[in-house]
Amino acid sequence: MKVYLDNAATTPIAKEVITEITPYLLDHFGNPSSTHSFGRKTKNAIEITRRKIADLINAENSEIIFTSGGTEADNMAIRSSVHDLGVKRIITTKLEHHAVGHTAEELKEKHQIEIIYLETDKNGQINLNELESLLKKTTKTLVSLMHANNEIGTLLPIQKVAEMCDKDHVLFHSDTVQTMGHYPFDTKKIKIDFLTCAAHKFHGPKGCGFLYQNKHIQTSPLITGGSQERNSRGGTENLYGIVGLGKAMELAYTHLEEHQNHIQSLKSYMMKSLIEIDSKITFNGDTNPNKSLYTVLNVCFPMDACNSMLLFSLDIHGIAASGGSACSSGSNKGSHVLAELPKQENCQSVRFSFSRYTTKEEIDFTLSKIRSIIKNE
Ligand SMILES: Cc1ncc(COP(=O)(O)O)c(C=O)c1O
Repeated sequence: MKVYLDNAATTPIAKEVITEITPYLLDHFGNPSSTHSFGRKTKNAIEITRRKIADLINAENSEIIFTSGGTEADNMAIRSSVHDLGVKRIITTKLEHHAVGHTAEELKEKHQIEIIYLETDKNGQINLNELESLLKKTTKTLVSLMHANNEIGTLLPIQKVAEMCDKDHVLFHSDTVQTMGHYPFDTKKIKIDFLTCAAHKFHGPKGCGFLYQNKHIQTSPLITGGSQERNSRGGTENLYGIVGLGKAMELAYTHLEEHQNHIQSLKSYMMKSLIEIDSKITFNGDTNPNKSLYTVLNVCFPMDACNSMLLFSLDIHGIAASGGSACSSGSNKGSHVLAELPKQENCQSVRFSFSRYTTKEEIDFTLSKIRSIIKNE
């Protein structure tokens, strides 16, 4: 049996998405910028998808900019805030994805932008009081905080943060790469400037996503050389990616609650069963279902962090999960997220991440292998 429990890294593409893309691979190949019928056909497909996505998050067409995925969308939001919107200070955390963290650090080096890292608690939660007091300063600021942490699943109270930023007229970007397609978004109800999306996190194709950019914001393109995306991003569009992204979003939101309940029940079941296997097993990040991404379970197994073969043993049994211990040895550079959490002795962290296709049988198989590995049975 092969079990894939690394859905926070990427998800398998849905069959319906492949069906949707296929005519564009086989027949409709026109360049969307061409004015003849071949081009109009593909241009139309892109614009229909833009409308579909905008409707799903209650945005306007002009607020959706297709990108190569989450990294590019995060880069666009942060870089344009500095280059075009006069931002001189970025408030963020050390737990952000490198698409945000490395970008902010580079801007600090090259453009003398002040970076403020908020304190995070043992579960990776920020302190809203600290944020509130920092927002009072008049320096032009961007707050960049991820909606859900991709390693430990901790959720940001995004609505609250958006209200705080709006009150103090501060720009707010949230890296929603792990939550777009997994939680509802209504951009008319949440005052936010930038949201980001990667299709491959919810059974869409890799290499495609979008940036939601509030229509009140005017920025110049990060990639120049063409007038595509209403002059926001040059280059011939990733037609198949965009069409697939639209279908994946539609599928994700059509049965959202059903998916959420199914996945959350598997996560809760796995947590309970792991503790039954070994009561010393603990979990990294918030485990309260209201404060934790239901697709991610980061487990701390009571064994030596740097020498453990746990992940390797799971792989031998056909189970794909991901590592990320805080230790730093050999090729394992260690997780910058776990390194920020309080140090836990004797802890091998493994991230299991689920999708709507994950089954209880797969979880039971995984649990039985974990039991035999850690009990040496
Ligand atoms: C939170 C978060 N942000 C950004 C990214 C980058 O997205 P992409 O792989 O589409 O560039 C990822 C992907 O792992 C992610 O989990």
